Amino acid sequence: MLSEHPSYEELTRDFSWSIAEKELEYTPGDIINIGWHCSDRICQKGKADKIALYYEEFGGTRKQYTFNDIRLAGNTIGAFLRSQGIAEGDRVCLFMDRIPELYLSFLGILKMGAIVQPLFSAFGDESLFVRLENAETRAVITQKKHLSKVRKIRASLPGLEYVIIVDSIKPSELKPGEILFSLENAEPVEKFEIAPTRAETHSLLHYTSGTTGQPKGVKHVHYSIMSQYLTTKWVLDLRDDDIYWCTADPGWVTGTSYGIIGPWSLGVTQCVLDTGFSAQAWYRFIENYKITVWYSAPTAIRSLMKAGDELVKEFDLSSLRHLASVGEPLNSEAVIWSGRVFGKQFHDTFWQTETGSIMITNFPGMKIKPGSMGKTFPGITGAVLDPVTYTPIEEPGNAGLIAFRPGWPAMMRTYWRNEEKYREKFVNGWYLSGDRSSIDNEGYYWFIGRDDDVINTGGHLVSPFEVESALLEHPAVGESAVTSKPDEINMEVVKAFITLKPGFTTGPDLELEIMNFIRKKLSPLAMPQAVEFMESLPKTRSGKIMRRVLHAREWGEEIGDISTLEND
Ligand code: PRX
Repeated sequence: MLSEHPSYEELTRDFSWSIAEKELEYTPGDIINIGWHCSDRICQKGKADKIALYYEEFGGTRKQYTFNDIRLAGNTIGAFLRSQGIAEGDRVCLFMDRIPELYLSFLGILKMGAIVQPLFSAFGDESLFVRLENAETRAVITQKKHLSKVRKIRASLPGLEYVIIVDSIKPSELKPGEILFSLENAEPVEKFEIAPTRAETHSLLHYTSGTTGQPKGVKHVHYSIMSQYLTTKWVLDLRDDDIYWCTADPGWVTGTSYGIIGPWSLGVTQCVLDTGFSAQAWYRFIENYKITVWYSAPTAIRSLMKAGDELVKEFDLSSLRHLASVGEPLNSEAVIWSGRVFGKQFHDTFWQTETGSIMITNFPGMKIKPGSMGKTFPGITGAVLDPVTYTPIEEPGNAGLIAFRPGWPAMMRTYWRNEEKYREKFVNGWYLSGDRSSIDNEGYYWFIGRDDDVINTGGHLVSPFEVESALLEHPAVGESAVTSKPDEINMEVVKAFITLKPGFTTGPDLELEIMNFIRKKLSPLAMPQAVEFMESLPKTRSGKIMRRVLHAREWGEEIGDISTLEND
């Protein structure tokens, strides 16, 4: 059964990224453009009439696009942006649900040489504001339904010159500086001069959250396609006749690296379902489109488990050939369950916004150890480091910090205008991922946890700092501390500890009001699932709030050294 795939040893022997360069017919120094590679090049390879995208939304609307359609749409959007005066290197934000225009604009922006800044459409105005301000974004492409959030902050963003709305809005409803662009009504642009982007030309700016400070813009370049192409081929095992479904939203890196660039650089058909989670809808989608390769996330898999085995039997899911997962720990029960009900086990993959592509994985041709993330991708030198000396721990099974030697194509090039934070990620020539794991005697990585306070809820990173700051803007909140609490499906969810200002009284109404306040300002992901009102928060004698005391209490862990605690 395993013999159809090369062994791990074969893949790693004599590995070089030139394998990807050769397959993508790229010679160092040439022009390289992700938008062109994902559409024009595929058409030139004789696949112009092949379906690139099957799209379906909640209401049942279906659309489909060939590779020639996406090539033309990319040209048309690229030409429109250029005609408006948007220049190479400008940041253009995509703030949309998973509608086709999101995917097509992604190509168009890259083709004309600007930088794509994808943001999750459920972000509230505050989350949106800090990211647009930091990136000095020049244009936002959005939908009518999200326009009110953009309008609310626009006056505070002098650099934001263009707000482009891609769906139905009456011209009379537009405010000054807002532009309607309908792909359906635009004249298709057959010939478009692709921007002469090179390997190191900036392509994408993805925002990610850290423990302290505002979110950081992770800078990627066009050459990243080498990593994304080869990992999609070898890890996700995509082949020419596959029908692929990546469930991630392109507001997050999985949705761009493997929800756009990976499959389309290989000329593979992909499907997009623009709905929230529903086990029935997901199984029906797999059945209808005969999906063969499915890339999803542990929280979704656990939710499917909860929906039960009987439901699976109502659908014909026999098309499924290969399953993979990313974003958070994939528990062994979920791996074993999927093997039982789908006849295929989920293959875990580990990577980050910063790494741009899969770093550690269970390969299709490799023995899966349920609960382990697998081994490093060929060409990646990984280790777990001693947290004091920052040298590799040689002893199998000992916990350390996951680190990689930089140098793979999709590695971030810096944090946007934050070179200092970028440099902090490197010690002794190692890139520190911020995660902890052990490595067993066969080279398999076993995830332990994050090495910071960032909360990973359902595969999405939430910064406690961002939530704490937003909480302080609520009139009743005196002080706040944010940590996680365990959750059966999402692994962990946000919990807020609050002291009130004089004159305010605790109660369920206030709790709900505070939750909603954060949901609107930041996002549903960042919304605390629980609020606890306290008389005072645990602090050091110097007045710093000790989040870890609250964290330990929530998780039933040892509190550790609290000798510096002020109010114990
Ligand atoms: O903590 C790790 C967790 O997700 C973090 C990266 O999050 P982000 O940059 O948003 O990218 C997510 C998708 C690539 C990591 O630092 N993580 C990712 N994959 C796994 C994981 N934790 C455990 N197991 C994984 N397979």
